[in-house]
Amino acid sequence: MRFTARLAPALALSLVACTRATAESASATATATATATATATLPGRDPMADARAALAPFKQAIQDARMEAIRRGGIRDGIHVCRDEAPALAAKYSVNGATVGRTSHRLRSGANAPPAWVSPILAALVARGGGEPRLVELPEGVGYVEPIVVQPICLPCHGKQPAPEVVAELRRRYPDDQATGFEAGDLRGVYWVELRTR
Ligand code: HEC
Repeated sequence: MRFTARLAPALALSLVACTRATAESASATATATATATATATLPGRDPMADARAALAPFKQAIQDARMEAIRRGGIRDGIHVCRDEAPALAAKYSVNGATVGRTSHRLRSGANAPPAWVSPILAALVARGGGEPRLVELPEGVGYVEPIVVQPICLPCHGKQPAPEVVAELRRRYPDDQATGFEAGDLRGVYWVELRTR
């Protein structure tokens, strides 16, 4: 029992690894070695899949809104979407025990600052220049973090030379903007999900 008591919190605190296979093997380890109580702290049968399912509509909605605005009104309209719609979309898709968001080590908007549990994971990703999605145990459930990589389509607003029509607007709306200077392939930030399971 002493073995179990030491193992359970270690499991709960450790970053449950990113790939589904590893998450499953971690879960199997918990089942094999921990008490029923400790096993119950691993929620759902596949928390990674649950977190991804909770995140998917938010990701899609952000991409759709951005594309639609750029198509309609050009890059400058895209800014308004990101600014006015992205937070609303996060709220809209934070349902059924899930809270979703996106954040970065180089923030454009302070309103997108990372939750405390995300910060060390983000820092580790930054140190390695990227990585795989992560699942982590939280006091009330699980947390999921998924890297966001810069694509060419992001560069007019996040690149080394932002599009001329957005420069003034960015400066005006985001005086503390740190989110330019990226190249395609760079780590831009992360999506995060909190899944409450207890
Ligand atoms: C049309 C301009 C525009 C384009 C294109 C754009 N973004 Fe942004 N992005 C913004 C603005 C404006 C914000 C600040 C939104 C806010 O106020 O919440 C932002 C915020 C973000 C954030 C939240 C963290 C932060 O810094 O506040 C991430 C992550 C992000 N963008 C990633 C991307 C990625 C990845 C792409 C390409 C797939 C992209 N963006 C394309 C304008 C843009």
